[in-house]
Amino acid sequence: MKFLVTGAAGLIGSNLALELQKHGKVIALDDLSEGKRENLALYKGDFMHADIRNANYPKFLKECDAIFHEAAITDTTVTDRNLMFSVNVDAFKRLLIYAKSIGCKKIVYASSAATYGKGKVPMKEADRTAPANIYGESKVRMEQAAKAFVKENPDFSVIGLRYFNVYGPGETHKKKAASMIYQLYLQMAAGKNPRIFKWGEQYRDFIYVKDVVGANLKALKYDKSGVFNVGTGEPNTFNKVIEALNKAMKKNLQPEYFDNPYGFYQDRTHADMSWSRAELKFIPQYGIEKGIKDYVSVLKKKKRR
Ligand SMILES: NC(=O)c1ccc[n+]([C@@H]2O[C@H](COP(=O)([O-])OP(=O)(O)OC[C@H]3O[C@@H](n4cnc5c(N)ncnc54)[C@H](O)[C@@H]3O)[C@@H](O)[C@H]2O)c1
Repeated sequence: MKFLVTGAAGLIGSNLALELQKHGKVIALDDLSEGKRENLALYKGDFMHADIRNANYPKFLKECDAIFHEAAITDTTVTDRNLMFSVNVDAFKRLLIYAKSIGCKKIVYASSAATYGKGKVPMKEADRTAPANIYGESKVRMEQAAKAFVKENPDFSVIGLRYFNVYGPGETHKKKAASMIYQLYLQMAAGKNPRIFKWGEQYRDFIYVKDVVGANLKALKYDKSGVFNVGTGEPNTFNKVIEALNKAMKKNLQPEYFDNPYGFYQDRTHADMSWSRAELKFIPQYGIEKGIKDYVSVLKKKKRR
């Protein structure tokens, strides 16, 4: 099988490229604006250093089985609408045209729980979208573009995965945009009390990156189009995250609470997973304790190197 992965040096793209190379030939593409080549240290396929806005996509990719599109501006605090839309929306439309030109009939792209904004929980795919920032808007526009494309090209399978709060190996480059699990890990590894907003009862549907890769593999097998939640369906409070980190790190550091300075804050995310489970047959394998335990073991090994 042959695959193209965009955003392949990033958190999700790198984990995906590393898994996909077990299933066939992969072309990894990234402009390295955020992601790092070291995330692909164990990757053996071709690497294309290119910007999706003007990439000279390979014409030779004739027998491409699927395109996995992860490249995007992922910083939710970016307020430059033109920039956000040119990278996240226009470049995606360009990629769809490219897929059509080479007859690659499967495109799996990254959408986001940000399409729900501060909507009601649990969040269902059929709910109205209510993005609360430009990033979330760009993801809604991507979904609309995919829908319009499929309407014109019904023989294509275009699948949007609404990732919830992803954490796992390969996110160190994200700095302040890295998962809160990683940020708390760093504080605790330095022997500090983990700092969270008062009173730690906000909750998020944290999903381990290995499960996100699993969802992409399920999407590869699904022959229709649509949009699917990729969460666990079991959100956890920030307090619970600290408890799981303490357990995995064999520490007993108590949270230090402080006031939340943000006017807008998505303080609860919770994926309703019934549609993904029924259609994609996607069943996450990592609850919060198992995911954090696995992640901490990887981070500890890395430190020792
Ligand atoms: N991490 C999460 O919690 C999360 C949640 C919801 C959705 N998503 C989506 O999943 C996808 C992957 O996110 P991630 O967490 O791996 O982020 P990431 O920033 O680690 O990866 C994105 C990659 O895209 C690359 N990129 C950015 N602009 C590019 C361009 N113009 N041309 C080529 N490459 C470009 C970056 O260099 C980076 O390697 C994104 O579409 C993001 O919006 C992520």
